[in-house]
Amino acid sequence: MIMKEAIIEVLNLHKAFGANLVLTGVDLEVFRGETLVVLGGSGSGKSVLLKCITGLMTADAGSIRLLGEEIVGKGERELLPLRKKMGILFQGGALFDSMNVFDNIAFGFREHEKDMPEKQVQDEVMRLLEVVKLPDICDKMPAELSGGMQKRVALARAVAQKPGTIFYDEPTTGLDPETARSIYRLIKDMELHFSVTSVVVSHDIELAFTIADRIAFLKDGEMAFIGPVDELLNCTDEGMCSFIGSFYQAGMMGHKNEETQRKT
Ligand SMILES: Nc1ncnc2c1ncn2[C@@H]1O[C@H](COP(=O)(O)OP(=O)(O)OP(=O)(O)O)[C@@H](O)[C@H]1O
Ligand SMILES: [Mg+2]
Repeated sequence: MIMKEAIIEVLNLHKAFGANLVLTGVDLEVFRGETLVVLGGSGSGKSVLLKCITGLMTADAGSIRLLGEEIVGKGERELLPLRKKMGILFQGGALFDSMNVFDNIAFGFREHEKDMPEKQVQDEVMRLLEVVKLPDICDKMPAELSGGMQKRVALARAVAQKPGTIFYDEPTTGLDPETARSIYRLIKDMELHFSVTSVVVSHDIELAFTIADRIAFLKDGEMAFIGPVDELLNCTDEGMCSFIGSFYQAGMMGHKNEETQRKT
């Protein structure tokens, strides 16, 4: 049996905003090379969890180990080397409005590999734009792009620094189904091209069933379920069942795609 290596270990994580107890004891492990999708209703704390794990928000209590290193209680500067190993695609895309597409993506290289020759930066940016299927838009400004294109550029920027792990916050929200599916494929492509570990936070159940190796369900401040996709179908948690119920009814369950199956 192959030993699974946990590269992220979250233990008993707590985070509150005043009287609003958002995370009240989250336990979570992420294994190297897997795609984990964290599902949960709006306001359940998915983005907060992601921000805590990536060190953008300070947890109140508990432990978060990244590659074996504890980050709770560490300062910005101490976290910098770990941050460089992570790519983050924020909810809402967040490109730099004043930079064109080329500079947005090149920013990742220029920040993290200061000595990279300009010619190489250009080649890498072009390669990434091809991966995200937008080869001809270098000179465009973010405002000129559709929402789906912005997400894809943001994705290219997130992987520019060649992170071992990519965190995606709601990568498909607000996109039409077809564009959303192109994003599913891209997330999988990132895995194939760069062997990354992916943590995807979403309420898009189709996304979860399409790309996840394992699914976690955040409810009432804790993980109500975590396990392989197949086990989810036997899950008896009421909140989880009603959450995925609409998906069952839409007859999507036979849709588990070939990409997931190819991997297994
Ligand atoms: N910086 C903040 N200050 C105060 N409260 C916050 C802050 N960030 C998040 N919250 C609160 O934490 C709770 C969880 O928010 P979070 O953004 O994590 O939800 P979510 O699961 O990502 O929802 P969605 O699916 O809508 O993105 C909400 O009640 C929110 O109001
Ligand atoms: Mg969110």
